[in-house]
Amino acid sequence: MRGFVVLIMLIISSSGLFAGEGMWLPQLLRLLNEKEMKSMGMKISAEDIYSINKGSLKDAIVHFGGFCTSEVISSNGLLLTNHHCGYDAIQSHSTVENNLIRNGFWAGSYREELSNPGLTATFIDRIDDVTTRALTGVTAVMSASERQSAIDKNLAEVRKEYRLESYQELIIRPFFDGNQYFAFVTTVYRDVRLVGAPPESIGKFGADTDNWVWPRHTGDFSLFRIYAGKDNKPADYSPDNVPYKPKHHLPVSMDGISEGDFTMVFGFPGRTTQYLPASAVRQVVNTLNPARISVRDAALKITDQYMRKDEATKIKYAAKYASIANYWKKWIGESQGLKQSDAVNKKLEYEAAFTKRLPSGSPYAGLLPELDRLYSAIEPYALAREYYTEIALRNVDLPSLMGGLKRMISAYEKNGEAGYKEQLARVQNFIPEFYKDFDSNIDQEKLGTLLTMYADKLDKKFVPDFLQRENLGIAEGESYDKMVADLYTLSSFTSEKEATGILSLSPEKAVQAIKSDPVYAMSSAWADFYANQISAPYNEIKKEIDLKQAIYTGAQMEVFKEKRFYPDANSTLRVTYGQVNGYKPRDAVAYSPVTYLDGIIQKYVPGDYEFDLQPRMLELYKNKDYGPYADKTGKLPVCFLGSNHTTGGNSGSPAIDAHGNLIGLNFDRVWEGTMSDIYYDKDICRNIMVDARYILWVIDKYAGAKHLIKEMTLVHPKKGKTSKTGKSKAKS
Ligand code: ARG
Ligand code: ASP
Repeated sequence: MRGFVVLIMLIISSSGLFAGEGMWLPQLLRLLNEKEMKSMGMKISAEDIYSINKGSLKDAIVHFGGFCTSEVISSNGLLLTNHHCGYDAIQSHSTVENNLIRNGFWAGSYREELSNPGLTATFIDRIDDVTTRALTGVTAVMSASERQSAIDKNLAEVRKEYRLESYQELIIRPFFDGNQYFAFVTTVYRDVRLVGAPPESIGKFGADTDNWVWPRHTGDFSLFRIYAGKDNKPADYSPDNVPYKPKHHLPVSMDGISEGDFTMVFGFPGRTTQYLPASAVRQVVNTLNPARISVRDAALKITDQYMRKDEATKIKYAAKYASIANYWKKWIGESQGLKQSDAVNKKLEYEAAFTKRLPSGSPYAGLLPELDRLYSAIEPYALAREYYTEIALRNVDLPSLMGGLKRMISAYEKNGEAGYKEQLARVQNFIPEFYKDFDSNIDQEKLGTLLTMYADKLDKKFVPDFLQRENLGIAEGESYDKMVADLYTLSSFTSEKEATGILSLSPEKAVQAIKSDPVYAMSSAWADFYANQISAPYNEIKKEIDLKQAIYTGAQMEVFKEKRFYPDANSTLRVTYGQVNGYKPRDAVAYSPVTYLDGIIQKYVPGDYEFDLQPRMLELYKNKDYGPYADKTGKLPVCFLGSNHTTGGNSGSPAIDAHGNLIGLNFDRVWEGTMSDIYYDKDICRNIMVDARYILWVIDKYAGAKHLIKEMTLVHPKKGKTSKTGKSKAKS
């Protein structure tokens, strides 16, 4: 340990730049990271970040809806997250007449805050290492399924030992591809209300053109509030609920950041795969990413045409479009970054070093060749799986709705009316939401185009007979548009009214009507084909890959003992830390780490879909009305960069300074560095944060919502002064 720390110090001082790689477990910081963090400028202790004995930073960090991060920033449960994380909620309250996406929303009092059924806010109460228990009796010679069932049995025992309150949940997750297991006790709040959101001209400024891109000028934030029962415990929505009183809330620093400052991002990164073999990375770059990108490319072009023509359509498809466009663009950047950084060859070099270190007769000797073989074997299935899921489950909506009906019908066939009724309730719940954001013409056009792509790009054996051109009378080279148009014309499910009509029939009649619907028949048969011919063989091989990956990841840790390993992201609470830093995206180009309001005005295009501004913004800029939020030079900072290792799910995570105060809000990464999920390059991987001062400025000056600022604890850690509320939590 000692020698290792010295080594790290040497690396830091010799390069002058800290390599921010790693998403660390908060309960292990003291052991693995605290020294390094302090050497980088951190003034608080690991115990201040994560403690189960006293209030700590972790008590302010909240998993938002299970897909983003948020943090408590007032003693009344005020939650800060990204605009794009609150987007579904903001959209759901929007209509053409009252368009919160366009105009923004600011509740003037608790009573005006808007409830969001289904939205949750999850706290982590404690984290326990249950590895030994989980892996009891697991041996190196077990098959994939033997291993899994042994682990499942062990974990069932572990679960029994936890005494949970009714509002707590227990989550047990594998780490290091199944080499370690941790248990998380969580408390889940179920009444989370929308408090404020800037208009999209701020919260989504630059939209898809600027997404994943630096220099950035997006005010990507929104505000929610956690409500609790009178006992401060989780409760279902009720008008009688009261604002939640947190164990800790983050003070907000008014002092801003400078290049080189220590930063820490605390949140729930979703998924990374850092320990893959070169063959897997090659497959992502050469085969899987190009397929995903091309499907989304086509689907997005179609949707975009319709959205630009009509305001109502723009609202309908706003959230769906944004989410499809987001990963489309990410994969393009990821592939470029993996190529640019020569990730496959770097992995091959790493593998050669790994192999060289193996003693003769090592059980790991055949591991990498075996993984290579498995990746070749899975490739055709993986490609077909990608096309099917992208088309039928992600980009075209009717086939996904048909999936819900299919589950209902099989429940009927298995369990009769009781089974049917249970599924029916789900479908009926889903129907209004579905049709609210559905346009049959757009959907039909997408399916026509994408089905053509499916037939053209995949080996014939992955195209079911009923979708082969010759069986449908479609000429070679001709599209599926006409055939799909016919299906949609004949189907009842293009209309909410007809769909609801069918679901109100007796189970027997409804099942009959659904089965004879042409879109249902096609979707259902295609789903069956997929399950048998694509997914089943894929899963067989994937099980083997997962087992070998578990062994390979464990072996890497064993072989490279001097390396400090961090587990892949898996939607559990992590800390990543780095510094405020720019980067050099390519030869002769250097990016500085801070953007300003001036840059927003430079990007302004009146009337544009992505770069328009509201008059109020222009007026505030003209008057330089920045209040106390400008930096030393009198300019208003908007976004900044850091070398924190983040991923999807980290959106909405707080950027925290050396003292434990909020300095920004994480929302993105830079284009050239989006490959950090697979391969982290310290020279170009950067995360993008909105500056806390810009957030405060928008709330205060733009929206005039001073009552929200008053709720917060503003601090001056650099000046050693406390806030107007006098409650500095800054430690030094
Ligand atoms: N790229 C960011 C993240 O992955 C922000 C995405 C939101 N914006 C958008 N245009 N979809 O979530
Ligand atoms: N924008 C991402 C999110 O929503 C963060 C990232 O991928 O860097 O979580």
